[in-house]
Amino acid sequence: MFDPEKFVDEKVNELKEQIQDKAVIGVSGGVDSTVAAVLASRAIGDQLVAVYVDTGFMRKGETEFVGDMLDKLGVNFRIYKAGDEYFEALSGIIEPEEKRRIIGEKFIRNFEAVAKEEKARYLVQGTIAPDWIESGGGLRDTIKSHHNVGALPKDMDLTLIEPLRDIYKDEVRKVARFLGVPVAERQPFPGPGLAVRILGECTHEATDIVREACAIVEEEIDSASDKGDMERPWQYFAALLPVKSVGVQGDVRAYGYTIVVRAVQSIDGMTAAYSKIPHHVLQRISERITNTMGDRVNRVVYDITNKPPGTIEWE
Ligand code: XMP
Repeated sequence: MFDPEKFVDEKVNELKEQIQDKAVIGVSGGVDSTVAAVLASRAIGDQLVAVYVDTGFMRKGETEFVGDMLDKLGVNFRIYKAGDEYFEALSGIIEPEEKRRIIGEKFIRNFEAVAKEEKARYLVQGTIAPDWIESGGGLRDTIKSHHNVGALPKDMDLTLIEPLRDIYKDEVRKVARFLGVPVAERQPFPGPGLAVRILGECTHEATDIVREACAIVEEEIDSASDKGDMERPWQYFAALLPVKSVGVQGDVRAYGYTIVVRAVQSIDGMTAAYSKIPHHVLQRISERITNTMGDRVNRVVYDITNKPPGTIEWE
């Protein structure tokens, strides 16, 4: 049986021995990087600097949420706001892999800059066992090039420390619960953030729309799941299509965008089945989205595709 208390004791001691100077860690607000940051912080205190890069494609309220959480957990952190840079670099880009490449590269450059400023000598990462086991295979076709806070480049001239590399997600969640990390049960969120939920160009307008729509989908599905009206999906969000259609608002013709609601059940994200959301929940989501953003969005559709043949995210 995995014992989180024993694991924490052992790792904190090990980290104390391994890290002799300043260390940095990239935190995303996900469970792996947060747990790794808390362990390192318990070992070396403020010698650790956790870095959260705000790319401008974060969920609604996310930057404040992560800052608040790290504060409460006693982790020394920095928020690096770089949104303008990312929007500029993505201007005119519509090809998904191109978007992923630009965001991934920028993220690494931003992180490097902070590590240099902090004069860090160690890089702590929240890599877990499946991360390196899967990437060792090399047999699978690259469907999407993942950008992951847990996979910063190894050529940074920093000593790499990976306290979670021998454990699996369910064990990380146990450690998170033991440490009082409030993101133990959080749904996954892609590294490139909302950018891969915007089909077409990532303008400020598109980002605002998808951010609001994602928040509505999360709130309504959380509330229906809490009430027992439905099984909580593994992941649930909205994507924005660059397709405009004709609608009517009041008695005036409208011409607005389309939001797709996506919710899936999955074990590990490798395959997925679309969630059978009750119709009254879908209806509330649709009404809230069109009521809040009726001037820009006049159609809401539900994605009933499994993975395969679809993927979970739309890009
Ligand atoms: P797809 O869309 O490939 O997604 O079916 C499978 C799972 O991975 C998440 N995802 C990512 N996670 N960096 C990540 O850390 C990424 O670049 C990335 N792209 C997709 C996706 O949200 C789903 O949970």
